Amino acid sequence: MVKICCLGAGYVGGPTMAVIALKCPSIEVVVVDISVTRISAWNGDQLPIYEPGLDDVVKQCRGRNLFFSTDIEKHVSEADIIFVSVNTPTKTRGLGAGKAADLTYWESAARMIADVARSDKIVVEKSTVPVKTAEAIEKILTHNSKGIDFQILSNPEFLAEGTAIQDLFNPDRVLIGGRETPGGRKAVQALKDVYANWVPEDRILTTNLWSAELSKLAANAFLAQRISSVNAISALCEATGANASEVAYAVGKDTRIGPRFLNSSVGFGGSCFQKDILNLVYICECNGLPEVANYWKQVIKINDYQKSRFVNRVVSSMFNTVAGKKIAVLGFAFKKDTGDTRETPAIDVCKGLLGDKARISIYDPQVTEDQIQRDLAMNKFDWDHPVHLQPMSPTAVKQVTVTWDAYEATKGAHGVCILTEWDEFKSLDYKKIYESMQKPAFVFDGRNVVDPQKLREIGFIVYSIGKPLDPWLKDMPAVA
Ligand code: NAI
Repeated sequence: MVKICCLGAGYVGGPTMAVIALKCPSIEVVVVDISVTRISAWNGDQLPIYEPGLDDVVKQCRGRNLFFSTDIEKHVSEADIIFVSVNTPTKTRGLGAGKAADLTYWESAARMIADVARSDKIVVEKSTVPVKTAEAIEKILTHNSKGIDFQILSNPEFLAEGTAIQDLFNPDRVLIGGRETPGGRKAVQALKDVYANWVPEDRILTTNLWSAELSKLAANAFLAQRISSVNAISALCEATGANASEVAYAVGKDTRIGPRFLNSSVGFGGSCFQKDILNLVYICECNGLPEVANYWKQVIKINDYQKSRFVNRVVSSMFNTVAGKKIAVLGFAFKKDTGDTRETPAIDVCKGLLGDKARISIYDPQVTEDQIQRDLAMNKFDWDHPVHLQPMSPTAVKQVTVTWDAYEATKGAHGVCILTEWDEFKSLDYKKIYESMQKPAFVFDGRNVVDPQKLREIGFIVYSIGKPLDPWLKDMPAVA
């Protein structure tokens, strides 16, 4: 029986390994983590992450050929294939701070593998890493190898949170990079055999190591670039009376462009896009390519601009101050169908409003008060370090309350900001919300969830990103 061990039981390690276990009953899969609480949650009824369809997959294989454990060394030493899916956050200190990937967790995982391995291993990079990381990992492993053969593969993960299970069941492609040596080719084939249990062969791409590593960074940069492109156009739409949804639809009809990932919004978030682009920028700079670095940096700058433009719009519409006013925030997760708040635009928007002394009442169906308070108290880039290393009881931000009901959050509010596109926000009783709010009542829709015309008929003053402006907003100071 082939044995797989995965280091890191997070948003990637948990779902990917659960699907491998489901699709490959003859493989034993053990997911290990240094976080005891995370592993207990994977072994309990309340899984540590919310992902549609995940519960079902875990229930089918847990205890059969899928296990979660903190006994890292035992399972690493027994495994034939070791996936490494640990955090690769942005460095917060030292050389490359604010840009380069922090490979501390990866390096300590590699050193531990070198220490405990007693037989040949295939080590798979599942985390997103800078191009050429495999070379460094190879050095760590082979330097301490005691005659053991380590083959390093790059197998970046392309799942999207919120649709992870569907993405894993039916991936657009699986990418495997390896050394172009007999040993490397054999290792690539062994991993290919795992995926071939359910992925059609023509969707399993094999490349050299560096292409696989770089493809993941490039794919995230391209995806984020589409969002920043449409968001840049959304600002121009608001200034001219064009409608960003209509423009995106017309643009996306071109088959060379395609319709997906063209929704204007308050900005992209999530643990990957910003971190991976910064990483790409840093790699370009280190390779003497400042023009290329600046090109990609602009994707992040437009994203930051979009978030601050949103905050400015809220403040300027409400007579240039939100001091003491109650603002309801609907949605805090970085997108619908996940409880993940890493780099969510809601953090920057809330911080911007708090900076103008607003009182904020937040409702998100999947995010806890503890998480929201932690996010609002945390410094930039600190979020992607393992949860157990973060301050457990941050000082609560006093002007923030968290509710478990959208109507409670909006009661008595002067304005509502919609920051996540949860389906339930489409069908709220906005008439009831309007009646319970201060007047004039504002809705600032950062995700194009509501029909602005219908809400205007109720009496709201509505701002929808990229849409023609409400007459009220046109009379307010210009927003930059
Ligand atoms: P995560 O933070 O949810 O999970 C990482 C886990 O690794 C944590 O539970 C942490 O305790 C554990 N860990 C850290 N050092 C360890 C060690 N030495 N031994 C065992 N466990 C250790 O992170 P997530 O989101 O799963 O991301 C992991 C990697 O996958 C990152 O490189 C990320 O860029 C990449 N990725 C993430 C995607 C996403 O949608 N979240 C999608 C594709 C790639």
